[in-house]
Amino acid sequence: MRNPVIAGNWKMNMTVSEASEFVCEFLKCLKDFPDRVEVMLFPPFTALSVLSTALRSSSVKVGGQNMHWASDGAYTGEISGKMLKDSGCECVIIGHSERREQEDNLTINKKLGTAFSENLRPMLCVGETLEERESGSTLTVIQTQLSECLQGFDRQQIAKLLIAYEPVWAIGTGKTALPDSAQEVHKQIRNWVQSKFGIEAGQNISILYGGSVKPENASDLLSQEDIDGALVGGASLKVHPFCDIINAVKNI
Ligand code: PGA
Repeated sequence: MRNPVIAGNWKMNMTVSEASEFVCEFLKCLKDFPDRVEVMLFPPFTALSVLSTALRSSSVKVGGQNMHWASDGAYTGEISGKMLKDSGCECVIIGHSERREQEDNLTINKKLGTAFSENLRPMLCVGETLEERESGSTLTVIQTQLSECLQGFDRQQIAKLLIAYEPVWAIGTGKTALPDSAQEVHKQIRNWVQSKFGIEAGQNISILYGGSVKPENASDLLSQEDIDGALVGGASLKVHPFCDIINAVKNI
């Protein structure tokens, strides 16, 4: 059985002191979370150390929002997987649509390879733009993203991967995909993974939905058969809405 995963992507928000305040309050809510839920937080790089230290004795995992494919070198302004590990990260978001403006599937593929070799659990983001959805090419777009980004990996690597389906038109817009239509895309993603990496890989992989998830719509989305969790942006910046989303797992 797949355990639900709820992840908070703070994007370029939260100073170190704001992150510390958040985590103090958040730690108090942990005891009420359903046992099987896996919780991840993706703060900006500057708050990684403080968050991973504060959460060390909890089951909450901390991750980076991006990383470079090289381990070190002359890449001004970049962060490597090795540095994420060093800051206490266990996971990393790769290919978020806000990054895809500067990186193609080939770069994402290289980053995923580095994440696997650094023993970081990657969360690969895929999703279509509004234009692509309206022209009826959602599935083609997603299949291309999956096949180019996951080119050359084996079943053991795929067993560590998380996928987040985030329709670009739903991110930060308040517009959420209808649970039925998100479910349809999630099912296609699972079928694709199954066809390339086998039944077990398809059945075990966690596919999260992202795009304007909030306490009000979390239960409906999470109760869909192939939606295994949520990647939450705006609603993860405040402790209580984020905890309400985590606790929505109790209703499914
Ligand atoms: P949102 O962001 O919840 O604010 O729409 C989701 C994401 O970009 O991961």
